Amino acid sequence: MKAVEIKKDIWWVGVKDWNLTEFHGYSTPRGSTYNSYLLIDDKITLVDGVKHYMSDENICRIKSLIDFSKLEYVVVNHVEMDHSGNIPVIMKLAPQAKIVTNAMGKRALEDHFDTEGWEYVIVKTGDTLNIGKRTLEFVTTPMLHWPDSMMTYVKEDKLLLSNDGFGQHYATDALFVKEAPFDVVMREAQSYYANILFPYGAQAEKALSTAGDLGLEIDMIAPSHGCIWSGEKEVNAILSAYAKWASGETAGKAVIVYDTMWGATATLAEAVMSVFQDAGIPVIKHCLSNKNVSEVMVDFLDAKYICIGSPTLNNELFPRVAGFVTYMKGLAPKNKKGFAFGSYGWKPGVVNNIQNVFEALGWETILPFEEKYTPKCDAVEKIKERVKEMIA
Ligand code: FEO
Repeated sequence: MKAVEIKKDIWWVGVKDWNLTEFHGYSTPRGSTYNSYLLIDDKITLVDGVKHYMSDENICRIKSLIDFSKLEYVVVNHVEMDHSGNIPVIMKLAPQAKIVTNAMGKRALEDHFDTEGWEYVIVKTGDTLNIGKRTLEFVTTPMLHWPDSMMTYVKEDKLLLSNDGFGQHYATDALFVKEAPFDVVMREAQSYYANILFPYGAQAEKALSTAGDLGLEIDMIAPSHGCIWSGEKEVNAILSAYAKWASGETAGKAVIVYDTMWGATATLAEAVMSVFQDAGIPVIKHCLSNKNVSEVMVDFLDAKYICIGSPTLNNELFPRVAGFVTYMKGLAPKNKKGFAFGSYGWKPGVVNNIQNVFEALGWETILPFEEKYTPKCDAVEKIKERVKEMIA
């Protein structure tokens, strides 16, 4: 794929990582992209790099448009290495270029790389940088999702280069959302939010309100992962989705997550599910033996009720459930009602490990439920009664 002009003299020079199946624990069945943008103006500016192992493609696309000796600025919106991995390569090819980043970005670059000799332009929210016919304006978005995270707005083009924000792990021939199946793009954007940005809803709301306060008119959002949102309809679609996800507003649905050894916890999970179904509450059930944790987390965004079930193995939670609970705790979903359930052979109590996580997250809870060995009809009725308390 050649470099692609996304607006007059603004080029996509990124890379597509078709074979990526996993991104630090997040399952990426559709691969990913690391989008990098080249602004050809009086002062030629590159916005974001790519992963180190895909550097050559990024460099070739840039070289197809300019000579590296002409590169004036390299904007580093975010230092996580999917975007900065090849910044040292770029700086070797263009030692005259200045890095444009914020104070946290400079510190993070120095913590990652040998930055000797690099010159910087340090920016903060509201600062501008004139590059000729265009003015870049910067919006720092700390903890969305790293301390250094930042977005770059190209005023004259009403273009927001949003880095991780509004991105999707989605490798496709399509560069623009309009060229791809919309439901797939939205599902991947939702998955990205749930698995990367979920803990930072407050920061996302603040970033959205800062963009509003600065009066940024946006008709294109070009993230550093996935497809580009262009035109009012698409831009509004993703902005309103983010506003909804960041608000913690739920659709009132229930999510059941469990694993099972000999079927006991599966029987309990089925009983839990039937209560929601009978009450007309939308419910989805995930068995961790065939689901990656990141697929499950997508359903947490609009869920009100979270029920997690585990067998007991060697006096501990079943490992896949323990792994899921750890992952979920880190993503810190808010405003949920939790129910822990499970089964044991000779020593009860491991469900309290799940209950403790619910409490650490500040969720409402009900009493956990455990059953010895195989649940009989009376146990099934008892757990149903417990779930009814939850939705009462
Ligand atoms: Fe796409 Fe936080 O890196």
